[in-house]
Amino acid sequence: MEISEILSKLTLEEKARLCTGADAWHTACPQSISVPQVTVSDGPHGLRRETGVPGESASATCFPSGSALGASWDPNLLEELGEALGEECRAQGVDVLLGPAVNIKRSPLCGRNFEYYAEDPCLAGTLAAAYIRGVQKQGVGTSLKHFAANNKETGRLTTDTAVDARTLRELYLPAFETAVKEAQPWTVMAAYNRLNGTYCAENKRLLTDLLRGEWGFQGLVMSDWGAVSDRDRGIAAGLDLEMPGGCAIGPQKIIRAVQNGTLSEEALDRCVTRVLELAQKAAAHKKPAPAKTPEALYAQHHALARKIAEHCMVLLKNDGTLPLRKTGSLAVIGEFAKTPRCQGGGSSHIHPTALDVPLEEIRKAAPQLTVSYSEGYTLTDDRPDEVRIAAAVQTAAAADAAVIFAGLPDAYESEGFDRSHMRIPESHNALIQAVAHAQKNTVVVLSNGSPVEMPWTEQVSAILESYLCGQATGSAQAAILFGSANPCGKLAETFPRKLQDNPSYLNFPITSPDFVAYRESVFVGYRYYDTKQVPVCFPFGHGLSYTTFSYLSIETDRAELTDRETLTVRVTLKNTGSRAGRETVQLYVHDMESSIPRPEKELRAFRSVELQPGEEATVSFPLSKRAFAYYDAAAQDWTVEDGVFQILAGGSSAETPLCASVTVHPAEPRPHIFTRHTLTAEAWDKPATCAVLKEFLTKAGCDNLHVQADWMRDMPLRNLFMFGAVYTQEELDQLVETLNRTTTFC
Ligand code: BGC
Repeated sequence: MEISEILSKLTLEEKARLCTGADAWHTACPQSISVPQVTVSDGPHGLRRETGVPGESASATCFPSGSALGASWDPNLLEELGEALGEECRAQGVDVLLGPAVNIKRSPLCGRNFEYYAEDPCLAGTLAAAYIRGVQKQGVGTSLKHFAANNKETGRLTTDTAVDARTLRELYLPAFETAVKEAQPWTVMAAYNRLNGTYCAENKRLLTDLLRGEWGFQGLVMSDWGAVSDRDRGIAAGLDLEMPGGCAIGPQKIIRAVQNGTLSEEALDRCVTRVLELAQKAAAHKKPAPAKTPEALYAQHHALARKIAEHCMVLLKNDGTLPLRKTGSLAVIGEFAKTPRCQGGGSSHIHPTALDVPLEEIRKAAPQLTVSYSEGYTLTDDRPDEVRIAAAVQTAAAADAAVIFAGLPDAYESEGFDRSHMRIPESHNALIQAVAHAQKNTVVVLSNGSPVEMPWTEQVSAILESYLCGQATGSAQAAILFGSANPCGKLAETFPRKLQDNPSYLNFPITSPDFVAYRESVFVGYRYYDTKQVPVCFPFGHGLSYTTFSYLSIETDRAELTDRETLTVRVTLKNTGSRAGRETVQLYVHDMESSIPRPEKELRAFRSVELQPGEEATVSFPLSKRAFAYYDAAAQDWTVEDGVFQILAGGSSAETPLCASVTVHPAEPRPHIFTRHTLTAEAWDKPATCAVLKEFLTKAGCDNLHVQADWMRDMPLRNLFMFGAVYTQEELDQLVETLNRTTTFC
């Protein structure tokens, strides 16, 4: 049946009920007409299909979580992951998977960072689009979340996030924008928080003007679970579906608002239409459960989880101790080696189909090796345990090398609360320091969802950041430790030396959480550390390999272009080591001269390539206007300033050995608008307006212009009288008008 026909048959009550879920995981179906129900489920790095028993979900593959996936820098991998997730949804009858989550990591403290990809929107958006494409290929929808500026957990249901327009456009919106424009998720999830005073779930500017109007989103907007404050306002703003369902307040409010005329029935019909469209789309795209047996499906996905985990882990430091030898003796230390932490807490928590335990995997991978084990700490007490530490030191000292499994226990990070510091438990720190003192070949393997302070960086031989890498964590760690897999992950976030160095440090309230101002503006993550030249522990984009890469050349297809044209950049690199490896080429743009403060450089493109020893590859990147632009809040548009830009290429934000320069001209110079309050400098700096100003000042009796010019620069036009000029109000207005007629610069 056509949607318009269904709509004409629905009562007001039925329409109102359709815009609220039937329960926690299903859309409603009206009494009078048969409309297919849509089943939704968490997400994002595995399927959490609730069984009906409180707190229980059906088992599913637990893939690496968001922060690990971000470190893959590999959209192909994310697409493959998406396809596997889509298959599991098909196997369990789920129509829409609640992910990906693309919020920017503004602070290392956000409890939910483990679910998010990156501190950079280019990286987060590209990966999200790939994930969506993969899932949706399977005839299963996605929900891009949490829209928008939901970057902390404390007080998340009420916090008012104050962000200026430029910062929103440059940092917090583009990952959503890319995902919407490139992959059209079936749904978008409106975040809990308020944005500049208005709840996201009632924010017309966000949900309608921007999302649908500017970006062309064609799907449905649902609320985060419990994010609705005023349902009727939400309808007017474009919030199609309230989740979860089961509460009558929302529908009642809608009905009352339509009846008393404060909400138009057309607005309600628009939302109902989108709910019906989703239901029809889900029914039309539905594919049968995969033909394989569940055992075969999950075995295949476990292998995929391992492959992805191997791609995501980041080798932060290595003095040559890694890869480990498979003979001799090895001390394995730390409770995480037996009880790995492989995922975060909250709505994304998966009931895994299997779990690879690091200690067992190490023994399996190196049967000739004598492996001893010492727990070093317990998961129940954070205080250093001298007895356990002494035993671990003894075990380590007796072996050829030691691997310590450490990081953040469950209680340290989760959805629903933020961390208050960046430290791992004292028991882990003390253990690492003591073992490193006794054993010169000490390797630390970290499991955590977000950056931690590492006071022992200099004392250990190697550090492997394995993030929360899913159910195959243990086998992937073993593969990297012994070198059967070559590490290729790169940090998608900066690891600062200490929390206080982070740009949001002074504005990340966790004690009075109802308001947060993003005062650091666009200077988030490496955009801040690079610009301010703050030394960091490990920079954005950093990640080592067991081979080496050399960046040979960079070329651009032109030296000069307008911002309507696309620049092609070609980067050639070579594997100069002795084994195959994967490198991610990162391309940053640096504006040589800008009238506003801009980050030192910004990631604009990236690509990872697999290279055999001695092999060379050339990768090319198209760069268009947005790569050079900043968001001009006054003009409400993207602006490129005329001038030279450097294109930097390399394997990390801190190492960009290649550089090319191009000159970019705006295709349409935007005339500067003069008012009485414009600074004289604006007129002074361009020949045409400078001539107008000089003529005016001379006529007004102002002499010694060459002497006074410097002083005048910072004065608004309305203050020219302070330099001896005599004129009437009308003459001043005339000057402003002439300047506006004369100006051609942007
Ligand atoms: C989370 C969402 C999740 C939803 C359903 C909310 O608390 O913020 O990410 O999809 O619950 O579980």
